[in-house]
Amino acid sequence: MSSVGIDQISFYTSNYFLDLRTLAQIQLTDPDKYYQGIGQEKMSMAAHDEDIVTMAASAAYPLVQNGESEQISTLLFATETAIDQSKAAGVYVHRLLGLNNNCRVVELKQACYSATAALQMACALVARQPEKKVLVIASDIARYDLNTPGEATQGCGAVAMMISAQPRILSIAPEVGNYTEDVMDFWRPNYRKTALVDGKYSTKIYLKALKQAWENFRENSSLTFNDFTHFCYHLPFSRMAQKAHKHLARVNKSELDASDLEQQIADTLLYNRIIGNSYTASMYIGLASLLENCQQNLTGKHIGFFSYGSGCVAEFFSGTVVEGYLDVLFKEQHHAMLDKRQEVTYEEYLELYRAPDPTDGESHSIAADTQGRFRLAAISHHKREYVAI
Ligand code: CAA
Repeated sequence: MSSVGIDQISFYTSNYFLDLRTLAQIQLTDPDKYYQGIGQEKMSMAAHDEDIVTMAASAAYPLVQNGESEQISTLLFATETAIDQSKAAGVYVHRLLGLNNNCRVVELKQACYSATAALQMACALVARQPEKKVLVIASDIARYDLNTPGEATQGCGAVAMMISAQPRILSIAPEVGNYTEDVMDFWRPNYRKTALVDGKYSTKIYLKALKQAWENFRENSSLTFNDFTHFCYHLPFSRMAQKAHKHLARVNKSELDASDLEQQIADTLLYNRIIGNSYTASMYIGLASLLENCQQNLTGKHIGFFSYGSGCVAEFFSGTVVEGYLDVLFKEQHHAMLDKRQEVTYEEYLELYRAPDPTDGESHSIAADTQGRFRLAAISHHKREYVAI
């Protein structure tokens, strides 16, 4: 069977960020609790005219510029920040990107894990029809209540990946390890805008699911811990990945020292430290961070992935980096986007946090603000109106 995997990867995050030193100052907390204790420096805050749809379309836009859109059979949209109980957010993206009317669109949900389900389903679809491509998009806005431990782990972002046969970036292996258990570590009932979380418990369940998914992976794959040079973990905050990687090394009785282990994940954390949690998108923004910032040529290297979605569903899988991958990355564009972001004050952060969400059915236009290519222009008569800029 021909190789299937990630042919292109692009991400988007908002132009605004809150420095966690500002949050620490307001909360009378030591900033090192955030900078070192959870390993986060900044968190992206969506503008009022941005949401999962506009971020997703902006992330995917560079992938559909060279006539590829005619080959896209399916758009899979992963999110846990759904804007509608019925209509898939990807249908708006389908129009904004000008995809063809024969392309199917569906939305997937299982906390932060669903982008991995989308990726695996995309690989299966492409294996069945290798002349077609599948567009996988993950887009989320991470929101917790103000003045809760989760507040410092907010963020927002979207990632878009084109899945194809003979991929130019990462070939995905079919062998995986799964773990599912009905637990209440993090959830968001339909009537809430912010997540509820049992924070410490969630970190314990994350580590338990890692061990279980890894053991299942080992039953299904011949690859061992030592075969991987780098690991991408789900990134609610970067310290979680550091703890997870040490945990996995212990489970495998690895003889690597602390600095070797850190080297295996350090480049995956760079973007997350300054974007924050982007739920479904976060592990894949971590992959972009590794590919775009690792000084070593990764061609032929095996990358291990641990995807975790609270509730919980977890998966360990692997990919092999393809020769020539550096030529198809959007590194300069991503660095330029991150470099030009604007810092907000605490008061501006509160204003962004309180995104408009009218429920009265009247016409509400939304002021233009985003630096992305698409914006939410209005919410009128219970309909969201998106436009290209
Ligand atoms: N200098 C350096 N380090 C400091 C410090 C200081 N001044 N003050 C505290 N720290 C350290 C602490 O020792 C602690 O380190 P350890 O974890 O190694 O013990 C770390 O900073 C965090 O401090 P606390 O444990 O006191 O932090 P907290 O209880 O206030 O919040 C949290 C931590 C529970 C993870 C919270 O951020 C939270 O609830 N986050 C949301 C839930 C989450 O992200 N869970 C992750 C697993 S679930 C998942 O992955 C799905 C998802 O996306 C949500």
